Amino acid sequence: MKVFIVGIAGGVGRRVATRLAEQGDDVGGLVRRSAQVADFATEGITATLGDIVKLSPEELAEMIRGYDATVFTAGAGGKGGPETIDQIDGAGPGKLAKAAKIAGVSRIVLVSVFPEAWRERRMGEEFEHYMVAKKQAESELVLTDRDWVIVRPSALNNDPGIGLVDLGLAKVHEEITRDDVAETVVEILRQLDVSRIILEVTGGPTPIAEAVSAMAGAGRA
Ligand SMILES: NC(=O)c1ccc[n+]([C@@H]2O[C@H](COP(=O)([O-])OP(=O)(O)OC[C@H]3O[C@@H](n4cnc5c(N)ncnc54)[C@H](OP(=O)(O)O)[C@@H]3O)[C@@H](O)[C@H]2O)c1
Repeated sequence: MKVFIVGIAGGVGRRVATRLAEQGDDVGGLVRRSAQVADFATEGITATLGDIVKLSPEELAEMIRGYDATVFTAGAGGKGGPETIDQIDGAGPGKLAKAAKIAGVSRIVLVSVFPEAWRERRMGEEFEHYMVAKKQAESELVLTDRDWVIVRPSALNNDPGIGLVDLGLAKVHEEITRDDVAETVVEILRQLDVSRIILEVTGGPTPIAEAVSAMAGAGRA
């Protein structure tokens, strides 16, 4: 399988890339610094320089042409203010979907967020803005004719993965490791019967492959 990752240098993105490459898949992705191109090359991963904000859908389409699937796991990380959040978290997935249509790439996995994530902590205006942008991106993606899957992980941490999750249509927002989110994304990429569905995932008791299989055929037509 050939997979292109937007956000490949991030916490989740790098883990998805490494897992796929270790399993013999061809991996490419978008990076913003030239040093990252050489860094990924040592793992056999083809990183391409570019910024999702500046690229046109047509330019992005040329980068992803020939890939079987794309993953969007980029994020402004709360930096750069509302405009940057809108451009990356808000508009980025829709731009990738447009590019995918032009390039004839059907499958898109979007890493999003639980709508209620940490709302009770009154995180502030920028966080609220981020939440709205993430939902806007989801709303845009579900209206496309792509073979999309949206994965909403709960709060991410860098603990070692345990290979077990709680995955389904609606889950309670708790915590999950980036390792386990990455493995969930890889499993979704492999299980093509999981399609056109929004899934929430948090730490839990079920082996990841089994949890993803249970969602096969559950998406909308
Ligand atoms: N933190 C949480 O608890 C949490 C919970 C649920 C969901 N999420 C979401 O999960 C996703 C993955 O999280 P993460 O922790 O892996 O994020 P992360 O480590 O902050 O990685 C985000 C990646 O996006 C890239 N990026 C940012 N702006 C870009 C641009 N303009 N063009 C191209 N790439 C750009 C960054 O590139 P650089 O390497 O160049 O900076 C970075 O590699 C994010 O969408 C996040 O919103 C997070």
